Amino acid sequence: MLSGIAEKLERSAAGGWHRLRAAWLALPRYRALAQRRLRRAVTTRRGRVFLTFLLFSALVIAGKLGFGWALLSFLAVAGVMIAMPSEDEILALEAAARDNGDGGPRNATPREQDGWRALIDALPEPAITLDAAGYVMHFNAQIRDLFPNVRTRRPFTHVSRDPELMEAIDRTANARDPIVVDLYERVPLERRVSATITRVSAQSGARGLPAILITFRDQTTTDKLAQMRADFIANASHELRTPLASLRGFVETLQGPAREDPAAREKFLNIMASQAARMTRLIDDLLSLSRVEMKVHLRPTGLVDLNEIAGYVAQTLEPLAEGSSATIEVHPLDTPARIRGDREELVQVLQNLVHNALKYGREGGRVDIRLAREAGKPSRVSVAVTDDGPGIAPEHLPRLTERFYRANVATSREKGGTGLGLAIVKHIVNRHRGDLRIASRVGQGSTFTVLFDAL
Ligand SMILES: Nc1ncnc2c1ncn2[C@@H]1O[C@H](COP(=O)(O)OP(=O)(O)OP(=O)(O)O)[C@@H](O)[C@H]1O
Ligand SMILES: [Mg+2]
Repeated sequence: MLSGIAEKLERSAAGGWHRLRAAWLALPRYRALAQRRLRRAVTTRRGRVFLTFLLFSALVIAGKLGFGWALLSFLAVAGVMIAMPSEDEILALEAAARDNGDGGPRNATPREQDGWRALIDALPEPAITLDAAGYVMHFNAQIRDLFPNVRTRRPFTHVSRDPELMEAIDRTANARDPIVVDLYERVPLERRVSATITRVSAQSGARGLPAILITFRDQTTTDKLAQMRADFIANASHELRTPLASLRGFVETLQGPAREDPAAREKFLNIMASQAARMTRLIDDLLSLSRVEMKVHLRPTGLVDLNEIAGYVAQTLEPLAEGSSATIEVHPLDTPARIRGDREELVQVLQNLVHNALKYGREGGRVDIRLAREAGKPSRVSVAVTDDGPGIAPEHLPRLTERFYRANVATSREKGGTGLGLAIVKHIVNRHRGDLRIASRVGQGSTFTVLFDAL
């Protein structure tokens, strides 16, 4: 029996020694922790401590309190202020208590914790993790865009008040598959964000690992693209349907009542030819647009001189100008206006602009193509196409480069316009990393300017 007691004593002495040694070894860490906490406490409460100091100083100056008492009282009050844990620290202590409760599974090792946190940080989309009680454990930087006031160790209900999201988080407890909910925001911008809530079930079952992972994806751009695609298809088929319906009408007339009427046949065939030409133009424009769109990320590599292109475009459109008794004048630069670009595309840009100036300008009017050099780093070359036509009302200006947008639908249709010309111009200019500026005054005319980096 005695030997049993001796053995027990020996074991507990060894245990005690072991614990003492561990505490001694851990002392620097605790000291560092305590110092850090003290520093943080002093910085966060510095304002209040200073106010207290002022108060006691005032009491001493007013002669209400002796210097010794004032100093003692000030030190006592400041000490209590610094030692009292803040609301945040109480929440942190509570969370730590939940994580380190006695019994049950072991705590996750620091290495495990580091691992999953790094993973969340590396996710490309906003991601946040919660513990089983719904407290925020960790989040990546992208989350701040959605929830600016997010903080760890806070209940997630303090971060978001979206009832659907909260309800989905509750449901995840019993759900095997991730739950996806859409969140809608109206202010400051209308947007749709989809949230995927996933239950994380760690095999190790250790404490301190996340229980719920929520990732967010902004769907606004996808929605807009889908809407734009739908609009585009609707517009394109509408544009094609009109000449097609007219063609079918004429075919029926020619097969029926006008079968034996050579004069009517001649007239109808002419209209049919022009409708067919319109459809061809539309399809060419659509193809052109999709070609440029596909290449928009690839910068052109060719070397072109805008002086030469302006001269060439003026020459090709001379017959058209003569048709409306208009004149085209080119004002080139004295020096070469070289830029990196795709000649064919830049010809298309100027052709569209000069063609518009002739189409929508004044009968017998004048179209100027003026090149200029803008100082700066890098210096830029601009080509401005100016007409003296009726101009464009300001409300149309921001929308002119949209596909199928026309300031005046009737005039554009009548002149064979498809409403795609400026959309193509805009895309080509974007591909060249250039700018398109539109200025117009009703009754005076319009100026369309394209700018590119000079070489
Ligand atoms: N110089 C201009 N003066 C007045 N209005 C213009 C001028 N250029 C363009 N517009 C207006 O902008 C609209 C869009 O021009 P855009 O070149 O995109 O299409 P379009 O000329 O109608 O068709 P397309 O160029 O495909 O044949 C035109 O319908 C017209 O109303
Ligand atoms: Mg046009």
